[in-house]
Amino acid sequence: MTTSDPNHVLIFDTTLRDGEQSPGAAMSLEEKLRIAEQLEALGVDVIEAGFPISSNGDFEAVQEIGKLLKEPIICGLARAGAKDIHRAAEALQTAKRKRIHTFISTSPVHMKHKLQMEPHAVLEAVAGSVSLARSLVEDVEWSPEDATRTEWDFLCRCVEAAIKTGASTINIPDTVGYAVPQEYGALIARLIERVPGAEKVRFSTHCHNDLGLAVANSLAGVANGARQIECTINGIGERAGNAALEEVVMAMHVRHDVLPFTTRIATPQLARASKLVSTITGFPVQYNKAIVGKNAFAHESGIHQDGMLKNAQTYEIMTPESVGVAKTSLVLGKLSGRHAFREKLTALGYDLGDNAIADAFTRFKDLADKKRYVFDEDIIALVDDEMARGSDRIQVANLRVVAGTWGPQTAELELTIDGAVHSEAARGDGPVDAVLNAIKKIFPHDAVLQLYQVHAVTEGTDAQAEVSVRLEENGKTVTGRGADTDTLVATAKAYVNALNKLLVKRQKTAPEALSLSG
Ligand code: KIV
Ligand code: ZN
Repeated sequence: MTTSDPNHVLIFDTTLRDGEQSPGAAMSLEEKLRIAEQLEALGVDVIEAGFPISSNGDFEAVQEIGKLLKEPIICGLARAGAKDIHRAAEALQTAKRKRIHTFISTSPVHMKHKLQMEPHAVLEAVAGSVSLARSLVEDVEWSPEDATRTEWDFLCRCVEAAIKTGASTINIPDTVGYAVPQEYGALIARLIERVPGAEKVRFSTHCHNDLGLAVANSLAGVANGARQIECTINGIGERAGNAALEEVVMAMHVRHDVLPFTTRIATPQLARASKLVSTITGFPVQYNKAIVGKNAFAHESGIHQDGMLKNAQTYEIMTPESVGVAKTSLVLGKLSGRHAFREKLTALGYDLGDNAIADAFTRFKDLADKKRYVFDEDIIALVDDEMARGSDRIQVANLRVVAGTWGPQTAELELTIDGAVHSEAARGDGPVDAVLNAIKKIFPHDAVLQLYQVHAVTEGTDAQAEVSVRLEENGKTVTGRGADTDTLVATAKAYVNALNKLLVKRQKTAPEALSLSG
């Protein structure tokens, strides 16, 4: 997989670990597996699949992703303690190619206040943790957390100890997103130049985006000798997020003249990866986001449109196709058959079993009855919606809502819970409130709605609505989504989808809370 090309850069994706640490981005195992498969299709070299000691969910994710994928290296995160490292090794047993990524804080502020450890003890922990990890797996990565605020001499001693004890990748995190590009680049260059043994290992960047510099810092790191970038799809991650995978990759691709580096990334898979992560986490992609934003290839002003018609290169530095953004295309209509539908699914990158195709086809026919034109985006929303709710214990069966100025706004709702039908009616302060009150009557709970957003999947008044919600219960947040031509049905589906995820969380933290009663 690695090439002998000295300018080849490995892409280490941490969407499933650092990305999942964003508040509200928690994902189920099935969702993580879907993202992992897409990351493999994208061609990432290393997937950080979780932090096995942190929860059974993370342990299982690393284990199952290791079973499922063949090509990428699967990585599990571990602090410097023996328990963490053994747990990571255990989770990685199923993986064909495995890596333990172990870390410890090295900055004065972290050592004093977070670890409450003296520098000499931290240095010992570096050697001890890397040696232990190396005794369990061949491939060990080591990170000095908060490296960019670490004293230079101490950082060098720690990096040297990690190299001596067997780390083959040294990752330099800008944990708090504090560095600026010239400084971060110089730090990488100096480490490579000064630390004994640096020539034997691969240096890696891991930049957070608190000052909006994560991508610039990562590229500065590569320009100064780093040959691995740690990043996430859509740049999701703690606080302001991590370096966005699609941005670092396309910067090296489009500006190969000044950034002469290569990656294995299949760039036409980028848009799909972005959409999948956004759909699963419920985190929308800002319209003007580089590479994958809705407006990234839209030209509004007359002058630009005129230029584009004469020659696309006037205002386009890369083609939409190169990142997988296809021109909106009319797909199928009411009369389209099963065969054409199946081919469309394949073209859109779905690999569904026969039963799932049959279900999706039925829903497509229903949609085509309601909607004159069915676009690619409609098919994607429809299939993603089905996948999001596939194994949910609570499902929306029927809904009737009275809305408008005459009031009162009411909702009559039927939910199935483990297959049994439950119905209730409720009033509300508006139709959305009425729908949510009816859900609460059937399934009482204390979760708080933190976020509710609706977006139209395509243009036109008959467009499907895609609703995302975020719920919080006892400090745990989950997101849910639903799509339908009726915004209120989509709302009910999204809310119920989130409730199902809360149920899964309750079962994990307190198995005795298996009962459905809130
Ligand atoms: O930002 C950070 O320091 C991290 C480490 C665990 C690598 O995510
Ligand atoms: Zn991080």
